[in-house]
Amino acid sequence: MIPQNFIDEVQARTDIVEVISSYIPLKKTGRNFKAVCPFHSEKTPSFIVSPQKQIFHCFGCGEGGGVLHFLMLYEKITFREAVEFLAARCGMKMPDQPASFREQSKSGLYDAVKQAADFFADNLKNRPQAKAAREYLYRRDVKDETIEQFQLGLSLSSAPLMEYMRKKGVRLEILEQASLIVPRRSGGYSDMFRDRIMFPIYDPRKRVVGFGGRMIRDRENSPKYINSLENPLYSKREQVYGLHLAKEDIVKKNSVFVVEGYLDMIIPFVRGIRNIVASLGTALTNEQIRLIKRYTVNAVLVYDADTAGQTANLRALDLLLEQGLNISVVRLPQGHDPDSLVREKGPEALMALQEKALDFFDYKTLLLAESFKRDTIEGKTRIAQEMLKTIDKIGSEVEKFEYIKRLSSYLSVREEVLLLEMRKLCSKKRRKFSSVQDAPVIPVPITEKRIVQFMLSNKKVMSLVMKNLEPEDLTHPLTRKTVALLFDKFTDNKEWSISAVLSMIEDKEISRFASELSMEEGVSLNKDLLRECLLKLRGRRVKKMKNSLQKQLREAEARNDQEKIKELIIKYRAVSSEVEQNG
Ligand code: CTP
Ligand code: MN
Repeated sequence: MIPQNFIDEVQARTDIVEVISSYIPLKKTGRNFKAVCPFHSEKTPSFIVSPQKQIFHCFGCGEGGGVLHFLMLYEKITFREAVEFLAARCGMKMPDQPASFREQSKSGLYDAVKQAADFFADNLKNRPQAKAAREYLYRRDVKDETIEQFQLGLSLSSAPLMEYMRKKGVRLEILEQASLIVPRRSGGYSDMFRDRIMFPIYDPRKRVVGFGGRMIRDRENSPKYINSLENPLYSKREQVYGLHLAKEDIVKKNSVFVVEGYLDMIIPFVRGIRNIVASLGTALTNEQIRLIKRYTVNAVLVYDADTAGQTANLRALDLLLEQGLNISVVRLPQGHDPDSLVREKGPEALMALQEKALDFFDYKTLLLAESFKRDTIEGKTRIAQEMLKTIDKIGSEVEKFEYIKRLSSYLSVREEVLLLEMRKLCSKKRRKFSSVQDAPVIPVPITEKRIVQFMLSNKKVMSLVMKNLEPEDLTHPLTRKTVALLFDKFTDNKEWSISAVLSMIEDKEISRFASELSMEEGVSLNKDLLRECLLKLRGRRVKKMKNSLQKQLREAEARNDQEKIKELIIKYRAVSSEVEQNG
């Protein structure tokens, strides 16, 4: 746990407007600032930042909270990391304290992979055995500056990483956890990467999290590339290669090229196409898309010309649309990948292809045309179904209809028919999901909302409510959870403002709720209204108690338990008179 007064201090030295505007452009409107929300896709801004309250809230998707919550969401970091981030930003040293076991071990892993990256880089640069590897890279147009920039390295079986790390005092468990060594069948361990060119994989915060290793000379029975196994730092699904270097340009150009391989990213990048990342051999996953979406919603996918094995890409296409990305697809000339194209014909060649990029509609119909004939009835039906499934993923109804019109002319099928077909497909889908996904969201009763609003805005109200209510008096799970937390965090001798409260709340659901309530204008604290809310909530508890007493009484009467009956009647009177006193 970080001491709360340290968090308060860090937050006091931070201006939420400054922090958020370093990520997204903010526009002043009256007392607040507005922006297009970075957490969901929208065209008109509903994301509000209040400099007075030091909070943000999006009225579109409901995200909200203090500056720490913004960082947690935007940088995908924990509460603790967000505090560290801000502390570093204002030059404060984190208080010394034993880190939790998990954090300790994770920071040990970061250190280990960082040291390994340095070791591999040094191998490639300085060891005589590295000559062949360097020559190989030069042949592929990877120059010394590029090696430096991407911190490329070399693993050598003649100079094992394990030995080096052991001398440095790094424990074997750490190395194994970081996927740098693997257990040997005969016992003991050996290096995971041997005699491979090493590509460190960085997260967007420029920390090494894993490696890819390419064989130098083709060997049989050995894969061309091997990658770090899944571990606490590295997950293949969640990383895209090169983002740490490309992110500024992606934002500036507001678009990103997505390629497959390490060198497909590196070569165009060093030749000036700097808004580029690699998905590393897989079709894009949801996690990767979400990561990319922090920087732009316009993605240009660069695919090989051969259409075999492109079903995975088609699936990625649906995911991309579903996440609100605008996609276009570049198809490379036969036999080329981005690396070879740019090496042989220059970056202009790739830019020229971008001009001719297909949108998802043309790309998907092109691929479908290879399996189905649009002039036969079955062909038409299959193409319609496949296309409608994808069109259905588009968020905007207007856009959807534009594509329906295109499909209609492409297949020579009337729009109404396609719409009907789409409705059929979608209702099937909804039936499949409704029971699990769309649990009904129960609205928060207005009385409970007001009470929490008042509690957040005023310290005196907090003490008053604490004397008069129990969290159980609230019926909605969210208000109940929030009130319980506020009770828990409240101390009389501290500043009580929405941003102070938020600095104590890690829970995202509660931070969203609290920021929403405090952004709502026009509800000012009003004694009568407060009293009314308290009575109503207490009244409900009393009624519940009365009901329960009545039930017990009936049971006691049925048993003819005179003692119990007497006791219950006394209790019942006490409860009733309490209501009258308060009423
Ligand atoms: N890949 C992998 N394991 C393999 C083959 C490929 O992880 N056995 C991943 C790598 O990230 C690779 C990407 O898939 O960069 C694309 O594969 P491929 O096109 O076969 O390799 P290239 O990137 O073209 O590799 P190179 O140009 O170095 O031959
Ligand atoms: Mn290649």
